[in-house]
Amino acid sequence: MVRSTVKELINSKDFDRDVLLKGWVRTRRGNNRVAFIAVNDGTSIHNIQVVADMESFPESVMKRVTTGSSIAVKGKLVQSPGKGQNVEIQAGKIEILGDSNPETYPLQKKGHSFEFLREIAHLRMRSNTFGAVFRIRHAAAFAIHKYFNDKGFYYLHTPIITASDAEGAGAMFRVTTLDLENLPRDEQGQIDYQEDFFGRSTNLTVSGQLEGELGALALSAIYTFGPTFRAENSNTPRHVAEFWMIEPEMAFYDIHDNMDLAEEFLKFLISYILENCRDDLDFLNQMVDKGLLDRLGFILENRFERTTYTEAIEILRKSGQKFEFPVEWGLDLQAEHERYLVEKHYKRPVILTDYPNEIKAFYMKQNDDGRTVRAMDVLFPQIGEIIGGSQREEIYEKLVGRMQQMNIPEKELWWYLETRKFGTVVHSGFGLGFERFLMFITGMSNIRDVIPFPRTPKNAEF
Ligand code: 4AD
Ligand code: MG
Repeated sequence: MVRSTVKELINSKDFDRDVLLKGWVRTRRGNNRVAFIAVNDGTSIHNIQVVADMESFPESVMKRVTTGSSIAVKGKLVQSPGKGQNVEIQAGKIEILGDSNPETYPLQKKGHSFEFLREIAHLRMRSNTFGAVFRIRHAAAFAIHKYFNDKGFYYLHTPIITASDAEGAGAMFRVTTLDLENLPRDEQGQIDYQEDFFGRSTNLTVSGQLEGELGALALSAIYTFGPTFRAENSNTPRHVAEFWMIEPEMAFYDIHDNMDLAEEFLKFLISYILENCRDDLDFLNQMVDKGLLDRLGFILENRFERTTYTEAIEILRKSGQKFEFPVEWGLDLQAEHERYLVEKHYKRPVILTDYPNEIKAFYMKQNDDGRTVRAMDVLFPQIGEIIGGSQREEIYEKLVGRMQQMNIPEKELWWYLETRKFGTVVHSGFGLGFERFLMFITGMSNIRDVIPFPRTPKNAEF
């Protein structure tokens, strides 16, 4: 007999037929006449109830039906008389697939903190909350590919191992096969990377953008969607050392086209999840964040506010609000500032543009004022910065000038610079932090709880 999933069965109206179910026991209640076993196989936030007549099954089997054990049930799918479910299975045959000791099974019924669940990340996906989060994560990844594919963008695989620092921020993890106990040295006593695997020093990528630009300047519009790595020592609820980023890059787009795309893209993803993950969202709205559904609806209904960094600094200075970090033209905005603008001042998502060049990467299009660049950050409620992007500097001399000011070696990025020599065009792109987006769409307040196995300072378990 073909196995049916919980998802198929609970939505079925085809009653009184024999079915085969396999899954894990969530709870068991009952008495010495009848057992009610809630089974979940991860395909739905809902469990299916299995009703077992104690007389029909040997005691040796029934005593092994405990929280956490895995079972196979053959039985009849019937309309349920009890409240809280539409269908149940009247068990005809129960087979124990894997035992679980209820005394030592770490995932007990309810009330575990998210902190504790992080310590049992190998099992937390079996809980309601994390089942919902990771089903939504899948749906969001699928929706991203759908959105760009339908729009004619090409999915470009940019390298994970690179020799360049795309953001010029220096927060990189080194990749090496050198013997750390016995490093080769050159005449000056420096480490000799010519001896290393690639014959030069390499690191894990912080962004696929630079290679993404090469793609856009050939295929018109591309996107990357892959893991990125940052060795920033920031222990915040919004940072992980390994995160996934979506980076579209478009030839012939200026910053306004770029902002339009970012807004349309985010709204599409939210609509898609609302349409396709309704049960999981309802659960999260009820159990994790009561304002979640309202907030998602609100984003869809409102146009994102667009204003400049300079204007934002004015607003923050006049706000009379006490901030932990200083507000001053030229300083980067902190999450508290971003959230004030979004949640208190504009009360909607905000796209800030034209940041000081000193706090942004070398590749951004320089404005005529000589001190700002055509950057755009999208700021969201609860999250702060969810997207960072810009129009790119397409003029060779200006780009080289900026690289010299910032001490970025031209000879390492010769290939990037060549695109500005041969058929350069206006182009733009941005990066959406996948986990930041997932925090927003699930209402989870710590980024460690939207990625299956988070990598953070001093933590690489699992
Ligand atoms: O603003 P960032 O650093 O921009 C770039 O990397 C550009 N190359 C993107 C582009 O224009 N193609 O990062 C983009 C986004 C941020 O807005 C944030 O959502 C996310 O990536 N992000 C992180 N997410 C989790 N943990 C971290 N440590 C993150 N750093 C950035
Ligand atoms: Mg940024």
